[in-house]
Order: sequence, then structure tokens, then C-alpha cells
Amino acid sequence: MSAEPLTGRGAPPADRAPLLDALLAYADRGVRGLHTPGHKGGRFAPPRMLEALGPAAFRLDLPAMGATDNTFHPRGCLAEAERLAADLYGVSATRFLAGGATQGLLAGVLAAVPEGESLLLSRIAHRSAFSALALSGAVPRYLMPPSADPAAAADLTAADVARHLDADPRIRALLLTRPSYYGVAAELDALREVAALCRRRSVLTIVDEAHGGHFKFLPAGRGPGSAVDVPVDLVIQSPHKTLGALVGGAWAHFPRGSRLDPARFAARLNLLQTTSPSNLVLASLDAVRQWLHGAGRDRFAAALPEVSALRATLAALPGVRLSGPGCDPADFAATDPFRLAVDVSGTGADGPAVERALRERAIEHEFCDRTHVVFVLGPDDDRSAWAGLVDTFAALPPGRPGTGGHGSGAELPEPRVRLSPRQAVPRPTEAVRRADAAGRTAGEVIAVYPPGIPLACPGEEVTAAVLRAADAAAAAGLSVHAADPTLERIVVLTD
Ligand SMILES: Cc1ncc(COP(=O)(O)O)c(C=O)c1O
Repeated sequence: MSAEPLTGRGAPPADRAPLLDALLAYADRGVRGLHTPGHKGGRFAPPRMLEALGPAAFRLDLPAMGATDNTFHPRGCLAEAERLAADLYGVSATRFLAGGATQGLLAGVLAAVPEGESLLLSRIAHRSAFSALALSGAVPRYLMPPSADPAAAADLTAADVARHLDADPRIRALLLTRPSYYGVAAELDALREVAALCRRRSVLTIVDEAHGGHFKFLPAGRGPGSAVDVPVDLVIQSPHKTLGALVGGAWAHFPRGSRLDPARFAARLNLLQTTSPSNLVLASLDAVRQWLHGAGRDRFAAALPEVSALRATLAALPGVRLSGPGCDPADFAATDPFRLAVDVSGTGADGPAVERALRERAIEHEFCDRTHVVFVLGPDDDRSAWAGLVDTFAALPPGRPGTGGHGSGAELPEPRVRLSPRQAVPRPTEAVRRADAAGRTAGEVIAVYPPGIPLACPGEEVTAAVLRAADAAAAAGLSVHAADPTLERIVVLTD
């Protein structure tokens, strides 16, 4: 583990990028490689890919080998890179992941919850949390969001968590999604209180901070703050989402005082990972860390005035509302300033209509639901895209009197769990006509994607509310992930 002292080496200087440097050094040595990968550093690369990516990408696309370390038992340049990332975030250990936050969540839940014991988790969890349940054999206990509006305040309370812990003494871990895909985060004080409660009750706390890798770099009071600074046990982030790593690059942090044994996490991770992770992706994590140690660190803070101005301009447009409690640009304690969730329910357009209008201007959003359009902003975004965004919202048709309010088009049904995912997933399934599905037990995940929050998971009753929510989402032009996307047939467990 990267937490252990690196034998025979001094601590690497933080202005170096040990893994990226190792790849560059190998490529520069002019070694004639009679080893994988088959593209041989570009000599045998498909010509169109070579032209598209350039030769350097192939030269650096090296496998796990002595020169590049390995992700199963990092002891060399990867361990050094992980150590430096841990120092940057002020945690006791960090692991690099080439398989996204998904990989970290899977390993975290497998390490934290033994089969048959319970996991308390937000129902707004990403679908990878469901995969973690299916793999681990953990029994889900769900924390429902307090509001039907997916972009409303997170309102995490220790009292809610305590109620669940009282109801099920087998709960071994709590998995929180903070921030949500809409950029809404439980305030750090609330998280601290919940973490303290979980410590008292011997329950581990895992925070899915996939969208919050940059929180650490926002000035105090100008962002929600990062869970790495709270005594939780594991924080998973996707630097590929907000920090500039290549797609798939994620990391898992063990905050100081974490009760989750990194070796136990590593053993689970090693069940899940390939022996050939992309070193380009891993090196991009190292490069992000190096950059954040230096010039990159202030980029988010420097862009805040412009982001605040954009938010204020949008909030002043008729019918347009910025969702969440952070409508006041000065108050980001529970809202990611760089995540815009624009509520258009007070205009004459819905989310998919805004999506079409944006595409006419060659602007692409992150995702929309029926009433919100969500954008991921970055410090160096093309400001003409921001201007185009203002113009698009300014040109929306006016709302009819009385419109407004919320509704994602896919309000989250309360799950009725009949079987744990592990019990349900291996069972035989059949696809039945929609009219015959109500009351049966789901045999597939039905989710609106993005954001990928499940309406039903295998083992849960297909209720009328699930079907209504799926229909509403499809009718609103949103993409419903299910085996049959038309929803004419639903996969259920064979009785
Ligand atoms: C809240 C949340 N957690 C986890 C993930 C999975 O992240 P990754 O794509 O890095 O595996 C996502 C992906 O969208 C997400 O939104």
C-alpha cells in the first residue's frame, strides 16, 4: 500500500510526477520492445488511431511492468504517485483507480460489509452502488431523499441515520452520495455529525465524492468542502469528472483515522481489477496531482468571480432558477459553484427543449431531466460557451402563469425490497408485457440515465409508481436504461 514507507527511497518531491516521469523515461530510452501491447509503441498501431492520437500516446501506452509498477501491489513509481496524492489531500493513504469511481465503490463496499449484513445508502446512489450490493451480498437499507425535487437541498441529518441504525442493528456501513449529480452536497457540519454518530455505532462511512474532487481546492466558505477533511473512512473521487484526468481516472482516499483497513480494500480491489489497467489513465492522475500541487491549485478559486457572475446573470433571467440552496452566489456551503443545475420549469420550455436549443448553438450540456439542465463548468471553459448558454436561456419562451415548481419527470419511487440484489441477480428472469409486470419482482435495473439513479433494482417489486416514473421519463424524452428501452417489456424474476 502507498501508506507504507517506500523502502530504499526517499519521499519523492511533490513537484515531480513519478508515474508520468517513469513512462516518459522508458519511452525516451529507445528500448526495442518485444513485449505487449501489440501496437508496439505505435509501430503496429491502426493508422487512423495513430493519426488521431499522435505517436506519443502510443509510446506512453505501456503495460504493467517493472518500469511502470503495477496496480495490484504498488511498490515503485505508482506507490510514490499515490503517496503524493495522499499528501495533497491530507489523508493517510490514496489508491489510484483506472476503472473509475465505480471500481472504488465496489471495492469499498466489499471491504466494509460482509455478506448478509446491511448497507445503509442514499437511494440517489449511482448504479455502481447497486453492483456493489449484488457482488457483496449486502442487504440494502435506503435513505430516501427528503424532496421529490432531485436538485433540492441534501438535508442529511444524524437523526435520520440514527433511526435507520436503530431499526437494523446489522448495518455495517453507510454509503453517502455527496455531492449529487446536480451539485448539491450535505453541509460539512452535517456530515461531521453523521460521521461521529457512525463512529459511536461502529458503522463505517463511505462517501461517494465522484463529482467533488475539486472541493478541496475551493476557498473556505466558497464551496461545500471535501469529505476528506471529516473523520469518515473512505472517500471516492473521479478526477476525470472535474479535475482534468483522462476518462476513467479515479482515486480512493483513506482520511486520517480511517477505520477501513487499506490492505482489506486492496484485497477486494485486486478481485475486481484488470492486470492491464491503462497507464495513460493512471499517469493522468499523477499529472493532475502534480498540477494541483503547483499552478493548478488556484485555478478554481481564480475562476470563482466569473462563475458567480454567470450564476447571477442566469438567476436574473425570467422563469429561470438555479436549483439548490446555493442560488445566492455567495453561499456555496451546500452547492458546488461549478455545477449549474438550471431549473426551467418557470419557462415555456422543458429540459429536452433546452437541450435541442443548446445543440443548435453547438453547446453540449452534461444532462437534463424534464425540468433541469445540468452543466459541468471548469475554470478554463470557453467563455463563448457561457455566453451562448445565457443567450439560450434568455431566448426561452415565457412560462404560462402558474407554471413553475419542480418535478424531474422521474420522481423517485420508494423501493420495496423483496430480495437482496445478491439473492435476486442469479435467479432466472423473463421479459413480460408491461401490463403484466406490476406486482412482479424486478429482474433488471431500470434507471433514467443520466444520472443513472435506479427506479427499480433486481429484487424489488415493480410497483405502479416505478412504471409511472419510467413512463414519465420516457415521455419527457429522457433516456431510460432497461433491456427494452421502449418499456413494452420488463424483465422480471421468473416466479
Ligand atoms: C455519483 C456518482 N458516483 C459514481 C459514479 C461512477 O463514476 P465513474 O464513471 O468514475 O465510474 C458516477 C458516474 O456518473 C456518479 O455520478
